[in-house]
Amino acid sequence: RTAAGQGTVARGHFPILERRRHQTTTKTTSTITIATTATRCLHSQTQTQSPKWRPVSVLDEWVAKEARPISLRQLMVFGRSLTESRLISSANYVRTELPTRIAHRIRDMQRLPYVVVTNPHVNEVYDLYYNAFDTFRKVKEIKTLEDNDRFCETIRATLKAHLTVIPKLAMGILECSGLMDAQGLDKFMNTILRSRISRRVIAEQHLALTDTFHAPWFSPGAKLSESEFIGEIFLKCVAKEVVERCGQAIREIAQKAYGPDVIMPEIKIDGHLDANFPYILSHLEYIIGELLRNSVQGVVEKHQRRKDKDVNNRPPPPIEVTICESPQHVIIRISDQGGGIPHDILPYLWSFSKGPASEQLLANLGQVPKMAATMQELRVDGEEANGGYTIGGSINTGLTYGNSLASLSSRPPNLRLGMGLPLSRVYAEYWAGSLSLHSLEGYGVDAFLQISKLGNKNEQLTTRATMDA
Ligand code: COI
Repeated sequence: RTAAGQGTVARGHFPILERRRHQTTTKTTSTITIATTATRCLHSQTQTQSPKWRPVSVLDEWVAKEARPISLRQLMVFGRSLTESRLISSANYVRTELPTRIAHRIRDMQRLPYVVVTNPHVNEVYDLYYNAFDTFRKVKEIKTLEDNDRFCETIRATLKAHLTVIPKLAMGILECSGLMDAQGLDKFMNTILRSRISRRVIAEQHLALTDTFHAPWFSPGAKLSESEFIGEIFLKCVAKEVVERCGQAIREIAQKAYGPDVIMPEIKIDGHLDANFPYILSHLEYIIGELLRNSVQGVVEKHQRRKDKDVNNRPPPPIEVTICESPQHVIIRISDQGGGIPHDILPYLWSFSKGPASEQLLANLGQVPKMAATMQELRVDGEEANGGYTIGGSINTGLTYGNSLASLSSRPPNLRLGMGLPLSRVYAEYWAGSLSLHSLEGYGVDAFLQISKLGNKNEQLTTRATMDA
């Protein structure tokens, strides 16, 4: 039976309900135990045949709760005039919201085919999620600032422990790509990543508000509207400045990767140069960084302009960025002449689980890279995020994390998890935006990023894949 109570479990799926409870009593993780537990659950459920679904475990109780999405504007209003009681309400929102959102994803994992959920990488993520769920659901109502400080420590520790989630998922999903249909795997990845972004946003926003509250300059109730950030939200993200900053960082990274003789393309920006909006800066930097990195790589590799070989030292064609502001949106178009996307890659462009890069990646990876996906993760992880991984093969470990960009834009350019584009789209859609690409094969690519600029849209917890289904 599924959590929604819609009949029996699909063939080939093992619901591992009660698995953790069983494991904590027997202290075993053998797959036989899991299967036995699952079979027992299935058996008892088919015997009762109740038409109405009833909670059978703590997890079920949490799965039955709805997530309560928030908008950027709500987060801003909440943090604008911070008082002790607002901070405590924020803590209690996060306290109940985290286990609810994690419970939904644990249930998704339980519904994966047995061979997928028992993949070592996926299983490690399952364990991380189950532990986090179990920890957060047990946190008692936050009543005092001291309670909140303890709660913040738990959040910090969990954020840090979950730094490996993205690479683990990426590798697990690649290893399972032949074991489940690609559409199903992509839908799962879209949902789990979007949910992870959402949890980290509410958790990090609360940590930032707490830090503000404890700052020596802070006086409760004082209006924060003059400051540039409310928690993690940058009130005035000027699109042009973000593109410039990301462009500069990407060009430097590419220069190091391709060598000092290679001429980098210029990044030209035109259009509505004053366009600005409230946003979480690290999300925007991630998306723009990925798009620019693809463009720079495409242009450099197609045009091969070297200082020593090209007598005129002609630069390759520039990357042109156009910013367009409308009453509701800001649209950023990034156009390059990097040769476009090869025909055979196009069908897999947005896939987490399929594509030509995946086989190469599987062959090259030695161990899970400890990789942060956003700026906040870098801050939480501190020192450890700097070059904290080793990978077999040709990976260049000379570059380190820790500049002002999201880590995926500053990681070694030849470390490709094949997730840059699909994850960028997850980020874009999370705040009700969109990301699309148009490829002119043999010529170049136009990428369109649309941002909802008013901040009044709720976080989108339902994925494109779910909506398409
Ligand atoms: C994650 O990073 O996956 C999380 O869920 C973090 C959150 C529990 C604080």
